Amino acid sequence: MIKVIGIGSGVVQNLTTEALEAIKSAEVIVGYRTYIDWIQPLIDKNSHIQKVITTGMTGEVKRCQAALEASRNGKNVVVISSGDSGIYGMAGLIYELSDVEDEISVIPGVTSSSIAAASLGAPLMHDFVSISLSDLMTPYDIIMKRVRLAAEGDFVICLYNPRSKGRPHHLEDALNTIKDIQGDGLVVGTVCDAGRLEACVTYSTLKEFNVQDVNMRTMVIIGNQNTHMHHGKMVTPRGYML
Ligand SMILES: C[S@@+](CC[C@H](N)C(=O)[O-])C[C@H]1O[C@@H](n2cnc3c(N)ncnc32)[C@H](O)[C@@H]1O
Repeated sequence: MIKVIGIGSGVVQNLTTEALEAIKSAEVIVGYRTYIDWIQPLIDKNSHIQKVITTGMTGEVKRCQAALEASRNGKNVVVISSGDSGIYGMAGLIYELSDVEDEISVIPGVTSSSIAAASLGAPLMHDFVSISLSDLMTPYDIIMKRVRLAAEGDFVICLYNPRSKGRPHHLEDALNTIKDIQGDGLVVGTVCDAGRLEACVTYSTLKEFNVQDVNMRTMVIIGNQNTHMHHGKMVTPRGYML
């Protein structure tokens, strides 16, 4: 049996009870090294765990294959993603690599856009979209097309994987695309390491936004035309008549 879990921000308070219980009953734990480090205290407390399988950043396929193999050998396996495993996480890959007889269950977690939104105020109160700016597996022109269409629809936009050394210009390109369509007054909130002690929050507008503040552990949320700052927090009105 494989449980594919999301560990939210990786701090214990951010784990769902269901995810916590999955870790407690696991015999094999599989995950990206950093995420395993985050939950190491829980692993140390669990005497059932016989094996921890970790690989680095690009080892996703190997990790999932190892997880499926352990499960086929009769082990209770837990595969870990940050946030929610079904949102840019491991759940899809596990299903894609699986055979019909593999027993898989996906346990939801708190995705980073929800955690970041809670730190910023209430920016996701109206229709929103999530777009990953990583072109490792998605062609760049498709990413930019989605950014353009989201801006044309005046959606609140959550940008996952906004910036890394390998793609320093994607965020700038995306923001310029949004600016061309929406103007430069939209409110932008960022949260790095959301839900963790080291979290950092910024508020600005598209005009003032500094892409240098963003790294690959940042969630960027761009408001819609109605999003505004209210008592220091980013709020998108739902539309109540006040
Ligand atoms: C491969 S995606 C994983 C998303 C994850 N499955 C989720 O549901 O949040 C990685 C991206 O998620 C965002 N992210 C993950 N954890 C974060 C956190 N604690 N704070 C802010 N952004 C985070 C960043 O944009 C990062 O580049």
